[in-house]
Order: sequence, then structure tokens, then C-alpha cells
Amino acid sequence: MAYTIAREPAASKKPKPPQQELGFGTHFTDHMFMMDYDAGIGWHDPRIVPYQPLVMDPAAKVFHYGQTVFEGMKAFRAKDGRIRLFRPDAHLSRMNRSNVRLSVPLLDEELVLEALRQLILADRDWVPGTEGTSLYIRPFIIATEPLLGVAPSRQYRLIVILSPVGAYYAEGIRPVRIHVEPDYVRAVAGGVGAAKTSGNYAAGLKAQEEASKLGYAQVMWLDGVHRKYIEEVGSMNVFFRLGETVVTPALSGSILAGVTRDSVIRLLRHWGIAVEERSLSIDELVEAHRAGTLLEAFGTGTAAVVSPIGELQWQGEPQVIGGGVTGALAKRLYDAVTGIQRGSESDPFGWMVD
Ligand code: COI
Repeated sequence: MAYTIAREPAASKKPKPPQQELGFGTHFTDHMFMMDYDAGIGWHDPRIVPYQPLVMDPAAKVFHYGQTVFEGMKAFRAKDGRIRLFRPDAHLSRMNRSNVRLSVPLLDEELVLEALRQLILADRDWVPGTEGTSLYIRPFIIATEPLLGVAPSRQYRLIVILSPVGAYYAEGIRPVRIHVEPDYVRAVAGGVGAAKTSGNYAAGLKAQEEASKLGYAQVMWLDGVHRKYIEEVGSMNVFFRLGETVVTPALSGSILAGVTRDSVIRLLRHWGIAVEERSLSIDELVEAHRAGTLLEAFGTGTAAVVSPIGELQWQGEPQVIGGGVTGALAKRLYDAVTGIQRGSESDPFGWMVD
């Protein structure tokens, strides 16, 4: 289907930062995509416009009740110059699942994919090509109706901004120390933990801040009911290599269904490695550590891809994992996912989209 997306080109182009100084989410391209929703009309006026500040009514519902969803995905420049997106279909269908949970109207995923194509083409000079770099794509929807009554908004705006990024962790892939969080929880089943919505990230900040004061990079979240079962690590999904099996928490209703999580599970199974999606308690993990069968732990997410965990701190006891160095499986997965993304490895699942 042909979609008409209006275009207002930027009058001037911003200077581009050197590729080795990109960082994560600090630079934004020359254009952005916007589309509005009004009850009774639906989504309308898809348009690419110059990157600019927003003018909004201070009563807009998003400021008060947090009715908002977002996504994070990436485009890569291959060696031959082609620009390709990693699993945009999976990200857009997850965005619609988040929309359902937050009572936000559904998007036409094909239209948004076409908008992403046109926006990235407009800003193609911003897609970096050096090792570890990509174009991070941040679509988000905000409730814009200026009304303080607590009810789903009748007006929304979808915005997509683009940010050329370097590696998420400045130091590159290397193990981090993690504090297992005993008090705060991120989400509970029945809540919004499975949706990509800002409140989940705001809810995690306090624990992250306190862990950081103690010298830890992030926290590992336990479930909110039993305070026993492992859920996520920071803003990532989490995997453990227990002997010859890889275990990751099952999607219990409070865990985000990560696209990298799904990619890692598929790659492992493709390689003939057993993966179990099930509940895993901190006690089982401590016991596996004591028995010497906890061989590796790592987080997965779009931003960092794979982030090895070198130490877990639980009830004052540091549990050093795999000698505190990056495990072979974490490295293999990181190389495989980034290789597919950059086009240096074959793409057995057809994840890359031109
Ligand atoms: C990711 O790992 O991609 C995340 O969810 C972090 C992002 C919100 C910066």
C-alpha cells in the first residue's frame, strides 16, 4: 500500500559529531517524524519535519498520568554502504502490545515502517558506519489531550527521533558488577512491566542510584510478590548459563519481551544449545554458584546487545561469576548478533530489513 507522508526539509543541516565521540543518545539528526491522533478521526497527518522542540499544553495528560509508550531499535550501515534495520517488525508489534496495555490507539505498523524508511533516508548521512556504531531509533507516543480527568486521552502524538550512537558502554563489552535488589521492585504481574512505558524506567531510578553509590553498575530485579524470583537486570533481560543449559526468566507478565532476548534464544537453539524459559529463584542461583555450575550471566537489550555480569552481590555476599571475565557464550552471542546487524555474518532468520 502506498502511503503519503508529507515532508518539510530542514533549512540547514547540523554539524555531525565525530564517530568516535558519539556516546549514547546525545546527538539527534536533522529531521523527525510526527503523526497525530484525534478520537473520531484516527491517526492522521504523517509528516517528516525538521528536528525541533515541541510546543505543548501543560495540561497534556502525558505530563500528569504518564500515558506514553516508546520503542528503541537500531539501523546499521553495512560495509557496502547499505542501511538496514534490525527486526523493525518485532519492535513495531511490541509497540502495539504496549499501546494495548496503556490504552493508546493502535498504529498501522506498515505505515510506521514506511515512515521509518523515509525518515532514515532523509537523514542517511547521519547513519554511522564504524565498528560498534548504529543509528538508534526512538519512536514514542504521548497523550496530548489537555484535560486533567483520569481517563484515556482522546488525542495523541507519535514522534520518531533518530540518534547516531556509539557503543552503549564506553568501555566496550566487559563484565559489570550487579547489586541484587532486596527492597525496591520494578513491576508486578498485572501491572505495566511487560509494556515499554516510561513509568517502568522511572520506577527503577532510585534503586539504580543507590546501587551506584555502593559501586554497582546496575541492580538485578526480583519479583514483587515473593521477592525471590529473578526478573530483569537494570533495563535488560537476563540469562544464566547453568552447566550446559541456558536459563532465562519466563515472560511472567512483569518482564519486557526483549527483541534481543528473543534473538538470543533463537540463536542458542539454532546452535543446538538448550534454553529454558522458566522461573529461577535467587536461592537456586546462589546454590548453583556454590556448586560451581553457574558459569556465566549476562544481560541483553537493544542498546548494549549483550552485557556480561562479572559479579552479583546478594545479602552482603559477592558472588563472582566465571572468574569475573567475559564468558565465551556471552562473547559468541555478542559477536553473532552484531555480525548479523553489520552484515558481516549471514542472517539465517531474515532479521535485517533494507
Ligand atoms: C535497551 O537495552 O535497549 C533498553 O531498554 C535501554 C534503553 C531504554 C536505553
